[in-house]
Amino acid sequence: MSTDAYRTAYAQSLEDPDTFWRAAADGIEWVTPPTTVLDDSNPPLYRWFSGATLNTCFNALDRHVRDGRGDQPALIHDSPVTGTKQTITYAGLLARVSTFAGALASLGVEKGDRVVVYMPMVPEAVVAMLACARLGAIHSVVFGGFAPAELAARIEDAQPKVVVAASCGIEPSRVVEYKPMLDAALDRSSHKPESVIVFQREQARAAVGERDTEWEEMDWDELVADAEPADCVEVAATDPLYVLYTSGTTGRPKGIVRDNGGHAVALRWSMSNVYDIGPGDVWFTASDVGWVVGHSYIVYAPLLTGATTVLYEGKPVGTPDAGAFWRVIAEHGVKAMFTAPTAYRAIKRDDPRGELLREHDISTLETVFLAGERLDPDTYEWATSTLGVPVVDNWWQTETGWPIAANPRGLEPMPIKAGSPTVPMPGYAVSILDETGAPLPAGEEGAIAIRLPLPPGTLATLWGDDQRYVDGYLSTYPGFYATGDGGLVDEDGYLFVMGRTDDVLNVAGHRLSTGSIEAALAGHPDVAECAVIGVADELKGQLPRGLVVLKGGVDGTGAEGERIRAELVKRVRDEVGAVAALRQVDIVAALPKTRSGKILRKTMREIADGRTPTVPGTIEDASVLDTLGPVLRPGG
Ligand code: COA
Ligand code: AMP
Repeated sequence: MSTDAYRTAYAQSLEDPDTFWRAAADGIEWVTPPTTVLDDSNPPLYRWFSGATLNTCFNALDRHVRDGRGDQPALIHDSPVTGTKQTITYAGLLARVSTFAGALASLGVEKGDRVVVYMPMVPEAVVAMLACARLGAIHSVVFGGFAPAELAARIEDAQPKVVVAASCGIEPSRVVEYKPMLDAALDRSSHKPESVIVFQREQARAAVGERDTEWEEMDWDELVADAEPADCVEVAATDPLYVLYTSGTTGRPKGIVRDNGGHAVALRWSMSNVYDIGPGDVWFTASDVGWVVGHSYIVYAPLLTGATTVLYEGKPVGTPDAGAFWRVIAEHGVKAMFTAPTAYRAIKRDDPRGELLREHDISTLETVFLAGERLDPDTYEWATSTLGVPVVDNWWQTETGWPIAANPRGLEPMPIKAGSPTVPMPGYAVSILDETGAPLPAGEEGAIAIRLPLPPGTLATLWGDDQRYVDGYLSTYPGFYATGDGGLVDEDGYLFVMGRTDDVLNVAGHRLSTGSIEAALAGHPDVAECAVIGVADELKGQLPRGLVVLKGGVDGTGAEGERIRAELVKRVRDEVGAVAALRQVDIVAALPKTRSGKILRKTMREIADGRTPTVPGTIEDASVLDTLGPVLRPGG
């Protein structure tokens, strides 16, 4: 490891991407090795490793078993919410995955078919994902905290042949039954799957096959009992591995398409070079398989590497206390962990002096990685001094699948600056642009954009909608991918990410759309119009707040107003999911808008956060802002 390793790698990745990524591709076993590296035949849509073939599941499982890792733990399920632990070896996971792949194949699932997976943090979720990869089918995992409307939107778009669900998820406060939510989602969706497979959990078994449905419903265990193991199907590097929906500003989620080849190459590279994890190391990502962090760093990257991944079904606090992560690290010998800053803020709140650390020996821990939202300097300082190991921020998005900016701990550890995710990773030509698309000098804040092409592993397109991909990401600054985040690069080339420049919400590291929460509010019979904004919150980073204007004649005061507000909070919980964490809805006389009718969410957000609001000259009626001031910031 030379002191210039990062600079050399980064420069080569941009100047000679073919050489750089061809070398990285050696970390993967191909059926047909790549001859083409970057395929730039159809700009602005770029592809990687066109013409090469492989199977991702083979690289994640079969290969390691063949090479002698069969008895090594592949996955440790540590579930304080059920009081169970389970270690599955590579050979064991391969057996389960090939059998479930056989079960899916018996239902007619083939290469290119979509399979929606709606499951909590159980090994079967990982088995379902890898079984799809084995068959060349495309999984689309939906986060268990999403309620019927969100699930239905994803089913509608992905058009799955099969849906795989668990009967329930377990939150510390309650058992969340998934089957009724799935039934409600399927009732709403015009697309119906051919089959629904339910993995039964004893905390709440689901009624299966009792409804008079257009699709067949069956138990996971019964289906698997009769299944023959299936072999890996060869797929093109450019074939989709999965579609993962993420929130934009509108209510319609965006189906991020990840390919097989570029994804495997980039994740394998990142595991060694960014996270410094190799074969046999124990790695713990506390997130959820329903988010991109879970896809990349609970499932694919550690398994592609031959490492052991911890699948933790619990919370940072309350299961049973703020020492939960330290227990997991000590018990399983974790070398590095990854989670969102909000989890550390929750631990800090409950155990500010880190007293629970004394109960656990975490001497195996070398590094903590944090991503998903801004790592505020306070949390960074607290985590660093409490744990005594480097705490490493990394910045990326569902779209990119792996870090855009990080401190490459395996390649060349770099000095850490609080508030910065450090430097751009290979292949990401990060630029800071002004509104006209002109580059800004060091130290000036602007829109963060990435010059095309994006590196391997990043989104190929949006599911079934190339044009929406081009319009949404590639048109604002021609020749660049617009990240939606704002920030700056300092004199040393360190990136600082300040936050979204659009109306996307980030609540406890969970990405949510203002549009879908607004759709739930707007569906209330008394609501004329509404807006949702994200306001700063000490624990969760942001919290959504709703503002509604009622229809003429509806009384929004006193007990009537109270009832409507409570119904609105419940509607969002029922439609979007508890994870939206909307607790406050205010009834107001009017919303601030431009003359063309665009609601000024950013202006309201600034008022709520106590900043000087930007008021566009095109505002229809500036006096509305005066009436909102006391609502958005009482006493402010
Ligand atoms: N299924 C069903 N419900 C879920 C859920 C799931 N998978 N995940 C969360 N919820 C529910 C919670 O039970 C809670 O419901 P409640 O309103 O009845 O209490 C609600 O959604 C909000 O959940 P959450 O955001 O987890 O807030 P919290 O107050 O329960 O916990 C933290 C706060 C910080 C401990 C928690 O957000 C956390 O662990 N964050 C880690 C961040 C993370 O994993 N980010 C992913 C990207 S890296
Ligand atoms: P998601 O697609 O859910 O991973 O959310 C991506 C968004 O989360 C980014 O566009 C950022 O706004 C935010 N984000 C993720 N990681 C970081 C980070 N390390 N620092 C600042 N913001 C982050």
